Amino acid sequence: MGRRLLLEHDNVPGIETFDVYRKNGGYRSVEKALKSMSPELVLEEVQKSGLRGRGGAGFPTGMKWSFLAKPEGVPRYLLCNADESEPGTFKDRYLMEKIPHLLIEGMIVSSFALGANTSYIYIRGEYMWVLEILEKAIAEAYDKGFLGKNILGSGYDLDLSVAPGGGAYICGEETALIESLEGKRGNPRMKPPFPAVKGLYGCPTVVNNVESIAAVVPIVNDGGEEYAKIGLGKSTGTKLISACGNLARPGVYEIEMGITVEEFIYGDDYCR
Ligand SMILES: Cc1cc2nc3c(=O)[nH]c(=O)nc-3n(C[C@H](O)[C@H](O)[C@H](O)COP(=O)(O)O)c2cc1C
Repeated sequence: MGRRLLLEHDNVPGIETFDVYRKNGGYRSVEKALKSMSPELVLEEVQKSGLRGRGGAGFPTGMKWSFLAKPEGVPRYLLCNADESEPGTFKDRYLMEKIPHLLIEGMIVSSFALGANTSYIYIRGEYMWVLEILEKAIAEAYDKGFLGKNILGSGYDLDLSVAPGGGAYICGEETALIESLEGKRGNPRMKPPFPAVKGLYGCPTVVNNVESIAAVVPIVNDGGEEYAKIGLGKSTGTKLISACGNLARPGVYEIEMGITVEEFIYGDDYCR
């Protein structure tokens, strides 16, 4: 079995609550980033990690973040893409359901790096019960001072909320997601301009997948170089895989990038 960076604690009873998550090392990356790092330094670690977007296209996350325009006096947004509608795919749902605070922690650190003070998790409309789990966890994070004004006395403010999706597969495409979040029909926009320049409400915006944002937590905790040691070539780190169909043990597994499909399906550690 390879290293588990995201699902290390998924079977700990009560891990969906703030207190249990915190006891298991949760929110360390927020303390580290807000107390001892600059936004630029967080970006640097993400660049060093080699993390590539987990939403499908595999675009390097650090590079995407570096494209974000920073005009004076204009808000920036981080949007988490939790629309997950690909048939047979349920890895984002699993992560949010089991360890909602991991995504919230990733949203805080990533929003800090991008200079965003308002961020949204756009979640597939059919995942209503998961939306409720997230809202409960977000309320706990506000209550404990990890969201809202002056987080941990750092001077950094962040408001985070969850928005239910429009109920169409296309709403997972980032510009359609933005249209939908603005209250319109989820039709994709012409590009350019890209969201990094003109996104939500015409402001610079980064859209990242749930798993990409969660991966920022171990990257900040252990450093980008440590993360980049796992994997193969330009595919660094770990990956969540939804395994379903004719398998002895279907489910969501965290693998180290670079193992073969054969090992995954027939190896003793995973689906067999
Ligand atoms: C039709 C279509 C559906 C998509 N659905 C999703 C989705 O459900 N979740 C997701 O993260 N990305 C989806 N994407 C990709 C997003 O447009 C975007 O590239 C992604 O959210 C970026 O995140 P990442 O850089 O972290 O991978 C979809 C793209 C297309 C064209």
